[in-house]
Amino acid sequence: MSIKFEKVDYVYSPGTSMEKKGLDNVSFEIADHSFVALIGHTGSGKSTMMQHFNALLKPSTGTIDIAGYHITSSTSNKNLKNLRKQVSLVFQFPEAQLFENTVLEDVEFGPKNFGASEVEAKKKALKWLKKVGLSESIISNSPFELSGGQMRRVAIAGVMAIEPQVLCLDEPAAGLDPRARREMMQLFVDYQKAGHTVILVTHNMNDVAEYADDVLVMENGKLIKHARPEEVFADKNWLKRHYLDEPTPSLFASSLSNFNFEKNPLTLEQLANEIKDNLWGEASE
Ligand SMILES: Nc1ncnc2c1ncn2[C@@H]1O[C@H](COP(=O)(O)OP(=O)(O)OP(=O)(O)O)[C@@H](O)[C@H]1O
Ligand SMILES: [Mg+2]
Repeated sequence: MSIKFEKVDYVYSPGTSMEKKGLDNVSFEIADHSFVALIGHTGSGKSTMMQHFNALLKPSTGTIDIAGYHITSSTSNKNLKNLRKQVSLVFQFPEAQLFENTVLEDVEFGPKNFGASEVEAKKKALKWLKKVGLSESIISNSPFELSGGQMRRVAIAGVMAIEPQVLCLDEPAAGLDPRARREMMQLFVDYQKAGHTVILVTHNMNDVAEYADDVLVMENGKLIKHARPEEVFADKNWLKRHYLDEPTPSLFASSLSNFNFEKNPLTLEQLANEIKDNLWGEASE
């Protein structure tokens, strides 16, 4: 079942002097099991869109079809529990979703809330705490005593322990060092490959090029492009006009004026192959 937005508007504080359109006539469809990157400048509407995937926010007008639910402005908050199990969100600011006394209790909360037994919930929590790279030695600590990077990992483990069909991540790698970021991205890719949909907000164009199948580009509440990464990064003038960065390999390739690139390399691997072909010809393979 795909995810479909149809003419979705979202207005913050309607009818007040603070009224602000967070989403403006947004329509798109994304396929199941894809890895979707959601990009755009600060204030473009990414977090607003993310909160619509599990109906934390509901469209002011328009409709959303997701996980068998048809969400409109009049959808009641009752009966959304199963949606929240199937579509879970790691918030942009993870401390906003930590609330239990210990790390373990925090990560167990999701599975328990959705019906897992004590034993099952603990097993899931330990599994995902390990997968996000947290050691068992901190599981009895308060989540609020942790570093920002550790808190982020706990929040990610807490959501992944629910094992949702659609995993929504709002800048999950912010504040992690490059190696931790790569490990975390690999965890999300593995999750997608295991048959889930992953929707990732990021400012990192290298991650978009490396991992995404599909890219949604937001600007001022509007969806201004929905395409594969190759297409998004193909038109350098369009990127410049919208103040969007290119992936580093693509920038590096542009600076090699003596080389003749057959196609714009977006990842390090593509860049290495293009350079190899230029130096030694395609017969070198
Ligand atoms: N609770 C709110 N009340 C009023 N306006 C809001 C609220 N939350 C967001 N907005 C406004 O809606 C617009 C979109 O905000 P949103 O948080 O979705 O942007 P974003 O793309 O996630 O930005 P960032 O990259 O900084 O996280 C912004 O203009 C923002 O000021
Ligand atoms: Mg945001």
